[in-house]
Amino acid sequence: MSEEAPQYDQADFVVVANRLPVDRTTDADGTTSWRTSPGGLVTAMEPVMQERHGAWVGWVGAPDETLDPFDYDSYHLVPVPLSAAEIEDYYEGFSNGTLWPLYHDVVAKPEYHREWWDAYHAVNERFAEAAAQVAAPGATVWVQDYQLQLVPQMLRRRRPDLRIGFFLHIPFPPVELFQQLPWRRQIIEGLLGADIIGFQTPGGAQNFTRICRHRMKMETHREVVTLPSGRSTRAKAYPISIDAKGFEALARSRPVQDRARELRHELGDPEVLFLGVDRLDYTKGIYHRLRAYGELLAEGVIDPRKAAFLQVATPSRERVEEYKRLRDEVNMLVGRINGDLGDLRRPAITYLHTSVPRTEMAAMYTTADVCVVTPLRDGMNLVCKEYVACRSGTDGALVLSEFAGAAGELRQAYMINPYDINSMKHGMTLAMNDTVQNKRRRMRALRRQVFTHDIEAWAASFLDDLAAVPAPQTTSTDPQA
Ligand code: ADP
Ligand code: F6P
Repeated sequence: MSEEAPQYDQADFVVVANRLPVDRTTDADGTTSWRTSPGGLVTAMEPVMQERHGAWVGWVGAPDETLDPFDYDSYHLVPVPLSAAEIEDYYEGFSNGTLWPLYHDVVAKPEYHREWWDAYHAVNERFAEAAAQVAAPGATVWVQDYQLQLVPQMLRRRRPDLRIGFFLHIPFPPVELFQQLPWRRQIIEGLLGADIIGFQTPGGAQNFTRICRHRMKMETHREVVTLPSGRSTRAKAYPISIDAKGFEALARSRPVQDRARELRHELGDPEVLFLGVDRLDYTKGIYHRLRAYGELLAEGVIDPRKAAFLQVATPSRERVEEYKRLRDEVNMLVGRINGDLGDLRRPAITYLHTSVPRTEMAAMYTTADVCVVTPLRDGMNLVCKEYVACRSGTDGALVLSEFAGAAGELRQAYMINPYDINSMKHGMTLAMNDTVQNKRRRMRALRRQVFTHDIEAWAASFLDDLAAVPAPQTTSTDPQA
């Protein structure tokens, strides 16, 4: 047990993630408020926590905020402070300038800086300490994502009585890429502090066990890795999902149905409406997708007087160089396509650089004929599952990248290779022109998959496996234990 007296109310179930589910924001007039944090992790974990209560340890999204634990909605939130320098080095630096591009097939160049690593290590220690304080004796602690890969080992050293799970929301790279990382051994040892390490796909889990076997010289048998101490850890795929029933109910509600019609009208009542919804991230293939659409317009395959494209992009990691560049590139491309191909009545592409409420998102999914999801690499991608969940009429078409984790499950989507512009053009055209019968057949199959593998099934399968791990041994404090 941690030696210091606990400062917090303790919980039997604790989630530890870089961000809390809500961000504290300050308006121009100085007033502060809370808003839902961006990204798939929060969308996925919200219903899990609402079902199980427990405590959520994370950062409030603003610098130098030292807040006591508090209750918000149905959450018990335990804030971890980050200084402005730590946000630069741990969050924007090591997490999003090193790990994010490295783990996403180096679609951007990862940077390796020792001071970023030092900050990552120090901040992971702080999260581990907060989790150790808040976890009740014998509690289950579930650590989330690439920002906190050292926490499982750091937490086990402090609290060998805990059951510790870890889930990686992004891809885990092949050994040929991972071995670039100067701190690869520390990351693997950090993760191995967990009893179970969850990945989005079987490929990610295999990449991890391969590294343990070939680089760390550990014994592995299928998903089980045996550590030098004799303790074992499992590395297994648990493809994450969404609250499918919740999304469907929202989409069917009267206000969302009304808003869906109104939105379509605002967009000029097009015959075909394409939709893209993403965080503004270079892994999402937004530029590639819009370029493909622009070519289809220019070639006359799609008539800009009859079709519309709505692209919504949530601002994300805006101080990181690659994100600034992407923002400029997308702005320029949309400007060029609209200048060349739009007319006074309708822009070729309606582009919103903003975050929208979930009801508005559901209205967009409800009214869009074709949802275009084209990541160059994505751990899972929840947007495509949300679209499918909202199509209770079994109409609509999903264009999906082979490089999204979801491609392994949503095989009846119109699959494309985002690196091949012709493949993308072909996928969009087919999705638009396919017979109603074919579209319905595909959508029915997609919906079966999404509704039988929802977020509750995901959480239950991970947590049941974790609960089945033999009771932790509380004697060893060996870091490799
Ligand atoms: P990531 O975790 O990389 O952001 P996902 O597709 O897994 O990608 O999850 C994105 C989540 O963020 C989804 O739940 C989606 O509804 C939400 N989202 C995406 N774009 C927006 C937006 N413009 N406004 C509000 N929510 C958004
Ligand atoms: O799923 C990937 C992820 O990085 C999550 O960890 C995070 O919540 C989300 O995307 C949004 O990113 P950020 O917290 O950097 O805004």
